[in-house]
Amino acid sequence: MQYNFDEIIDRRNTGSVKWHYFDDTIPLWVADMDFKAAKPILKAIEQVTQHGILGYTKPTAALYDSIIQWHSSRYGLLLDKQNILFSPGVVPSLALMMNVFTEVGDAVLVNDPIYTPFMTKVEQNGRTLVTSLLKEVDGKYQLDLADIEAKIIEHKVKLYLLCNPHNPGGRVWTTDEIEALLVLCKKHDVAVVSDEIHQDLTLSGHTFTPFLKLAEAAGYAHNVVSLTSMTKTFNVAGIKGSMIFAKDDALIKKISQRQQLNDEYELNLFAYTVMQSAYENGGEWLAQVLAYIENNIEITLDFLARHLPDIKVMRPEASYLIWLDCSAYAQDDQALYDKLRAAKVELNAGIRYGSEGHLKMRINVACPEALLREGLNRVYAAFSGGFKPKLSL
Ligand SMILES: Cc1ncc(COP(=O)(O)O)c(C=O)c1O
Repeated sequence: MQYNFDEIIDRRNTGSVKWHYFDDTIPLWVADMDFKAAKPILKAIEQVTQHGILGYTKPTAALYDSIIQWHSSRYGLLLDKQNILFSPGVVPSLALMMNVFTEVGDAVLVNDPIYTPFMTKVEQNGRTLVTSLLKEVDGKYQLDLADIEAKIIEHKVKLYLLCNPHNPGGRVWTTDEIEALLVLCKKHDVAVVSDEIHQDLTLSGHTFTPFLKLAEAAGYAHNVVSLTSMTKTFNVAGIKGSMIFAKDDALIKKISQRQQLNDEYELNLFAYTVMQSAYENGGEWLAQVLAYIENNIEITLDFLARHLPDIKVMRPEASYLIWLDCSAYAQDDQALYDKLRAAKVELNAGIRYGSEGHLKMRINVACPEALLREGLNRVYAAFSGGFKPKLSL
């Protein structure tokens, strides 16, 4: 079936985080999409409500099979049921991993810029945050392996939190890059937790490599966990639910024991239902939404190149988030944010993702084209009256 992603659906007064705070602002910020979920998912939810009993539920063999099938057919990541645990979210799992791999005070390494909870969960859990700046080379971020190794040695890093694909830079780390990082972590006995929640949103021309797949081949699976979810892929973030993958029996046991301390290993009935229906029957929706997102990315890149050429744009390799260097238009992060706010368009302030986010903004283009175009017009309005007016529309 053909989905209509042009449909504008009013999300105000629904509790939507993205739309909640604003009446007349176009929200191009928090990472969910303004698109209806796939029909098979909505139908599966309906079937549960029609059945009418919403009792205690456990993951079924069919659910495990759907996860195993999705990851093996798409990424060659071979999983057994015993390799899979469930968790209410990837961010809760990141927090959990602090207790699996480290003690209070231990150093945890993350890149800068990075999705904000990578930093906050480290600090809130009393670990020492160590950062390694990504290097921008030819308009895209690269890992600075020399710096990463130096930081590992200097701070006796115990755990590296990788964002693969990367948010906010949109990089899909290549097999070579992952291999090099793996060699380094193995050499220094640093555990790796790879957040792969954006894996299925990899864009044309790029190939997602699961960290765990290479780690297993390198004999390092006992120190590696990957975290992923159907929520980002299928735009069902409100459902809450995610997976933890590990391929070492002792490690899975340790994670499972930690989860049991707070009784946090079960998902709700709807999360299991959505997960299974998404992996079994969501592929068609995903292919169509990715095509729509790719078109929106082109619209955005084209608009900015023509009307705001001084914004340096990082072309994403995955997902619908675009990283914009707005340093030509502002000298101060708050002023930059306020300028866009005043023009009634909401983007994420880059500085929230670390020091490398200084004078940058992150825009979410996963919305109906008409909304995106209006949002972009407002971005233009914000800057055309600002520091460096360039072109009129
Ligand atoms: C890299 C990354 N990890 C995790 C999350 C959120 O995961 P969850 O909602 O499962 O906690 C996001 C959401 O934007 C994300 O970008």
